[in-house]
Amino acid sequence: MTARDDAGTPQLTEGAVDAVLASLSPEERASLLDGSDFWHTQGLPERGVPAVMVTDGPHGLRKQPADGDHLGLGGSVPATCFPPAAGLASSWDVDLLERVGTALGEECRAEGVAVLLGPGVNMKRTPLCGRNFEYFSEDPVLAGDLAAALVRGVQSQGVGTSLKHFAANNQETHRMSVSAEVDERTLREVYLTAFERVVRDARPWTVMCSYNRINGTYASQDPWLLTDVLRGEWGFEGLVVSDWGAVDDRPRGVAAGLDLEMPSSSGASQAKVLAAVREGRLSQDDVDRAARRVLELVARSQPGLADPRPYDASAHHALAREAAQRSAVLLKNEPVSSQGGDPLLPLDPAAWPEGGTVAVVGEMARTPRYQGAGSSQVVPTKLDDALTALREGLPGTRVRFAAGYPLEGSPSAGASAADLADEAVDAARAADVVLLFLGLPGSYESEGFDREHLDLPSEQLALLDALLEASDSVVVVLSNGSAVRLHPWAERVPALLEGWLLGQAGGAAVADLLLGVVSPSGRLAETLPQRLEDTPAFGAGFPGEGGVVRYGEGVFIGYRWYDSRKVPVSFPFGHGLTYASFLYEELDVEVTGSGAGAGLRVAVRVTNTGRCTAAEVVQVYVADPEAAVARPDAELRAFARVELEPGRSQTVAFELDARALSYWSPVQRRWVVEGGAFEVRVGASSRDVRLREVVQVDGEDLTPPVAVDAEISTWLDHPVAGPALRSVLGRSGGGFLGMLDDPGHGAMFRAIPLVRMARFPGFPATEAELEAIADRANTPA
Ligand code: BGC
Repeated sequence: MTARDDAGTPQLTEGAVDAVLASLSPEERASLLDGSDFWHTQGLPERGVPAVMVTDGPHGLRKQPADGDHLGLGGSVPATCFPPAAGLASSWDVDLLERVGTALGEECRAEGVAVLLGPGVNMKRTPLCGRNFEYFSEDPVLAGDLAAALVRGVQSQGVGTSLKHFAANNQETHRMSVSAEVDERTLREVYLTAFERVVRDARPWTVMCSYNRINGTYASQDPWLLTDVLRGEWGFEGLVVSDWGAVDDRPRGVAAGLDLEMPSSSGASQAKVLAAVREGRLSQDDVDRAARRVLELVARSQPGLADPRPYDASAHHALAREAAQRSAVLLKNEPVSSQGGDPLLPLDPAAWPEGGTVAVVGEMARTPRYQGAGSSQVVPTKLDDALTALREGLPGTRVRFAAGYPLEGSPSAGASAADLADEAVDAARAADVVLLFLGLPGSYESEGFDREHLDLPSEQLALLDALLEASDSVVVVLSNGSAVRLHPWAERVPALLEGWLLGQAGGAAVADLLLGVVSPSGRLAETLPQRLEDTPAFGAGFPGEGGVVRYGEGVFIGYRWYDSRKVPVSFPFGHGLTYASFLYEELDVEVTGSGAGAGLRVAVRVTNTGRCTAAEVVQVYVADPEAAVARPDAELRAFARVELEPGRSQTVAFELDARALSYWSPVQRRWVVEGGAFEVRVGASSRDVRLREVVQVDGEDLTPPVAVDAEISTWLDHPVAGPALRSVLGRSGGGFLGMLDDPGHGAMFRAIPLVRMARFPGFPATEAELEAIADRANTPA
């Protein structure tokens, strides 16, 4: 039953799980449901069950020494720090995410890690969420497809992933107790969709439940979430692990489908589980099911753990640089106002006299901000900074550096902001171009708390003002994990590169982009709003009151909100420039199938009409202008990144299934395709639609059943009940019919539940008669 590796460590095989489980005592089974320390499952060596290590994640490995803490205060082994999700998501590049995932899997394997704790696919409901840097997007299709690719990559190496934080963990304020009050349609269409896509497409080995409550129930003990939806509907077969410390009532959690508690409760939960079984509050079957999943996870990870392979750190650094190149988003690139001509970027040293002078301003050029803080913090194998990379990339140019502002944890910390700004202005005056690195200091955003505003630090904004006075050739490069306010200053800078957080090779990648070694190709995975007041959850919607946060904006998050309400934004979802330009032609949309099997086939031809190789991200949005529920202006349904040489074209084709047309019906409690006109929009952002086509979709029969307490309008709209009711009401002079059809008051009467009107004096039918009509109408023909 038990295989042993060379070192004599017991090795559990998948085929041996049944027999091992059967050999365990109830106490041993219950012990498996708990970790053994911060990072390991419980081993039972005498039964042939090794302990395995699970660890953060997600954009690099954070393997701590055995006695480490869990929030990153202690050190961890060096590992490649790829761009965090906010950066990676801006690549819109599924292949890249899979390659990054593969590299992460290789590093886990080299370090003997069974499961990498990520990716996190929670929606960016508000730009203030302290953990947005770790999340992909405000759109579930983008987040889901990118995360699925990352999961495929990691798991291709025989290492598991943990899809987190399931679910509706969209803020850090009171994250361990707050109840997210969300209607089911919103949950299904927005907050669960990314999880669903990853589970269905990439089969993560584990899912991590979130800390918060959803509509009053802790995610860690919510049977609807952890069992009915996750397993019953989506077919998840892996293990559910708690977020670290997310367990409230352990026996309830076991019954609900929470298999593994982490970190270890030091035996306390085991005792509670055993007591609950003894007292009949929890079944032994539930315990065995969870224990089996732990054993299956351990067994699944054994082949990888038994065969650790070193990884190539310099190849991974190169991949981190490519990932960073693809993650930065060129928001704006215009000619310098006084001169006209070409856009300011890429930099062209040949155009400057004697190689020119570049002022690199901003401490973040020298001391990069490249990842977020908290449990995901990685110790990088190497760290590039933009200043060094620019010096190397501009050999014949004088590069003058000025810190510009003080930054915590850097050589400029503690210096006077005014002195640093004066020095920077001097440098700018003497330069052909100013490269200004601004961003959020590390203490502004982290796991564990939310931001209070969207602004850059005031000393940075003052510096920006001063530099815009001193030079008209200012390029701003931003480092921030979540959206910052760019309004109104972005209007005054000719070029603006949103670098997000770009990982350990971000500095070199930024230099590559500024110098035109590669063309920028990132696109915004989140809208950049003009003002905090414009954001969907602003006010009572965030961070909630009295332990409750109401998602009152419903499905209208991110661009679904801004675009539906026509709110001006700084830069829309999906936006990003390159050093080339693209032409969209020949949109072809075909409806495939009908009813619940309807879909769309979309094809469009894209041509690079620019002068350099660059990548376009073709985005397909679907609008459903008329529906029984309020739908967003349009929703992203598919996307593809295509890299083209100048003059080259490619036809990009997409297959959209029924889900792309559906909404979650709160009445039927399922996805429905309501027929009618749909508009397919293809373009380069949610607001840069290049081609559109309206198609007619033959939907499902959504006629609701009638009941005597349904409103009269429901009856009148029903093909069988409507005529039958009219004929009944036509009796005794038809006074009631006249009321319902009255142009002035009819609407008011039609909104009355039929059974109520049936009690009015003189109503020409009995309740029993109406019930008989309803029965007939609801019986399928
Ligand atoms: C975080 C998780 C993380 C875990 C382990 C928790 O506080 O929410 O994302 O994986 O700690 O460090």
